[in-house]
Amino acid sequence: MEKPYLLHLITPAKNASPFDVNMAYDAGWDAITPYTNVELDDVAGLTQDAIFSRGPKGVRRTGFFIGGREMVLAMDMLDNARDAMVPPFEISVFADPSGAFTTAAAMVAAVEKQLAKTFGESLDGQKIVVLGGTGPVGSAASVIAAKAGASVTVMGRQKDKADRVAALCNHAYGADMTGIKGDANDHKGEQLEEATVVLGTAAAGVQVMNKDDVAAAKHLKVAADLNAVPPEGIAGVGVMDDGVPIPDSSSGAVGIGALVVGNIKYQTQNHLLQQMREADSPMYLHFEHAFEFARSYLQND
Ligand SMILES: NC(=O)c1ccc[n+]([C@@H]2O[C@H](COP(=O)([O-])OP(=O)(O)OC[C@H]3O[C@@H](n4cnc5c(N)ncnc54)[C@H](OP(=O)(O)O)[C@@H]3O)[C@@H](O)[C@H]2O)c1
Repeated sequence: MEKPYLLHLITPAKNASPFDVNMAYDAGWDAITPYTNVELDDVAGLTQDAIFSRGPKGVRRTGFFIGGREMVLAMDMLDNARDAMVPPFEISVFADPSGAFTTAAAMVAAVEKQLAKTFGESLDGQKIVVLGGTGPVGSAASVIAAKAGASVTVMGRQKDKADRVAALCNHAYGADMTGIKGDANDHKGEQLEEATVVLGTAAAGVQVMNKDDVAAAKHLKVAADLNAVPPEGIAGVGVMDDGVPIPDSSSGAVGIGALVVGNIKYQTQNHLLQQMREADSPMYLHFEHAFEFARSYLQND
C-alpha cells in the first residue's frame, strides 16, 4: 500500500488557520496535523522527528507548512527546518504566514500586469506607497515590489513602527539593498502626491485612501486594495475590479480589487502546495516562489 501524503502544519500562533487546512486538503494532502504555539527552537526537533520515521520513499510524501503572523519568524523557521534535514531524509517546507506571502505575491503580480497592459511599464522605477503596510501582507508586498526594482514606502499610524518594519524588511530580506522607507499616515498627502502605485494592505474594514486622496494622487497609475470588508479600502476600487478606471482619479489610474487578488492568491497557494506534494526532491518555498508562480499564472491568463 502506498503511504499517505502527510502535511505537518506548524505555527507559532495558538490556532492553526482553517483556511490553510482546507487549502492543503484541496491540494491533495491526505492528512494535515497542526502543531500550535511552536517556538523557533522547537523546529529542528520537530523536523527530525518527522524525517526519520518513514524511509526515503515515505519522506517524499511528507511536508511541513509554516503559518503564524510574522514574516521574519516564518522565514527563520523555514531556515531552521532546512538546516535540520539529514539527506536523504529531507522533506519539503512551505512558509506562508497568515497567507501573507501568497497574498502579497498575487497583489504585486496583478499590479505588474496592469502596469504593462495599461501603461506599457514594469515595476522597475515605480514609486509605490503601501498604506497599512506594517502588517504581514504589507511587509511581504514591500519586499517583493522592492526586489522588482520599485522604490517603496511603508505607511502606518506611527512613524517608529513603519520605520522598524521597513528596516526589518531591508535587513532581513533585501540584503540591505531594497531601500524600503517608512513613514507615518500624517504624511500621506505628500507621499500620495508622488506615488505611481498604491497598495492598500491595512486591516479589514479600514479605508486608507478616500475620494480626495485618490483625486490628489496626480501621478497614480495603479491602485490595488485588499480590503473586502466595506467601506472600500481605496475609494472607488470595487472588490471585483481588475484594471477598471478609478472614478475620481485625475491621472487615469486603474484599480484592482480584493477578490481579484484573492483568486490569484488561491491559485498560487494551491499550486505551491501541490508542487511540494509532487516534488521528487525537497523544495523550500516562500514569498519569492509565490511571486514567480503568480507572475507566470497571470502571463498565461
Ligand atoms: N484577499 C486575500 O486573499 C487576503 C488574504 C490575507 C489577507 N487579506 C487582507 O489583507 C489585508 C492585510 O492583512 P494583514 O494580515 O497584513 O493585516 P493586519 O496585520 O491586520 O493590518 C495591517 C495594518 O493595518 C493597520 N491598521 C490596523 N487597524 C487600523 C486602523 N483602524 N486604521 C488605520 N490602520 C490600521 C496597522 O498598521 P499600523 O498599526 O502601523 O497603523 C496594521 O499593521 C487585510 O485587509 C486582510 O483582510 C486578504
